[in-house]
Amino acid sequence: MQKQPKTKLQFPKRFLWGAATAAHQVEGDNHNQWSVWELENAKTKAAQSEYQLHDLDNWSDIKSAAKRPDNYVSGSLADHYNQYEQDFDLLTKMHMNAYRFSVEWSRIEPEQGVWDAAAIDHYKRYVAALKKRNIEPVMTLFHFTLPAWFSERGGFEKRSNVMYFTRFAEKIVSELGKDIRFIITINEPDIYARESYRAGNWPPNRTSNWQMFRVLNNLAYAHRQVAKRLHGMNRRYKVSIAKNSAYSYAGDTAWLSHASAAVLQYMQDDYFLRKVVKHCDFLGVNYYFSNRVYGYRVHNPDIKVSDLGWDMSPSNIEYALERLYEKYKLPIIVTENGVADQGDEYRQWWITQTLAGMQRALDSGVDIQGYLHWSLLDNFEWAHGKWPRFGLAAVDYETGNRTLRPSAIWFGRVIKHLRETK
Ligand code: FCB
Repeated sequence: MQKQPKTKLQFPKRFLWGAATAAHQVEGDNHNQWSVWELENAKTKAAQSEYQLHDLDNWSDIKSAAKRPDNYVSGSLADHYNQYEQDFDLLTKMHMNAYRFSVEWSRIEPEQGVWDAAAIDHYKRYVAALKKRNIEPVMTLFHFTLPAWFSERGGFEKRSNVMYFTRFAEKIVSELGKDIRFIITINEPDIYARESYRAGNWPPNRTSNWQMFRVLNNLAYAHRQVAKRLHGMNRRYKVSIAKNSAYSYAGDTAWLSHASAAVLQYMQDDYFLRKVVKHCDFLGVNYYFSNRVYGYRVHNPDIKVSDLGWDMSPSNIEYALERLYEKYKLPIIVTENGVADQGDEYRQWWITQTLAGMQRALDSGVDIQGYLHWSLLDNFEWAHGKWPRFGLAAVDYETGNRTLRPSAIWFGRVIKHLRETK
């Protein structure tokens, strides 16, 4: 772990301090293209887990969970759909004033053109429950899950399908919009396009470069369309995407390492951002790791890794934010940041390093307006299923009990202090 000099923390007055979730990862009992895929693939994934994960240092700790098919089926999870009031109380306990969530399109429009009034009412009560606690909602419209009917029509592979997403966006914002300012249209477009259309890891398991780029371009088009419509409804809406950004840097002085790092950074960040930036009021940034590049290879030799094997270099968030701000000049909200750490060994260190990194970015002039930790609760980590634990609150999936981890109790005290010392 890198040693950093102590940084004095002083965040802007109306800074948003909060946590993030996504519908399919916490709500439980969703029926969408992912839940269909989970049921079809759970057995194979369980059988392949040893081959895929045995290199992880913590393989012996996770193996019994990773080898079980039900790990790969979201099922009822933490039942956040019904337990949201108690979950929002956790935000209050941590002195938070913001919360990012996603609305589940498949609940709101379960069949093409059919709106489910009960689901819409649910999300109205949900947002009202946040407002009652003085918590600013940050609403995501597409966080990797789609109604089965939409993906059967070809999902975002077809540009002509984008109109269904635009129609959904207008509908839900016209229903919930009076209490909402911050809207994320799409979560991590590149990760979705890559994992689903090139790497073949996520539904619909395609492995085509060409399809990946087509989906990515359609997602950029979708963002522009939705942003235009929402701004047309009300200029007060602050619209953006949540852009994954890994910081890429050369590990040595070789010309090739520098050139590869720059190309990697461009392809990961700028290829997409350039297409949407004029239609963003701020920039949502998800930061999890860095890429150290040697020659053509990404290799992080001496950096510790999380339970998922992701390298842990939280303080590099500083450079990711500085670069994005310098390039795009938009205010930034960190829309996700966190660590898979079942034993809660690293989370407090992670957050300390992250806050210091953000402070240095602020001091160098970056306009950062919020930080939303991933995640409020332990949740369903997509293709890995339930074993990775990102929650500030640990969830016992048998009993439904939520318990704030020690790092979360500490973080709550830090937020209280930072919000008071203005
Ligand atoms: C991000 C996703 C989020 C969560 C974290 C760990 O890529 O946006 O849903 O899975 O990673």
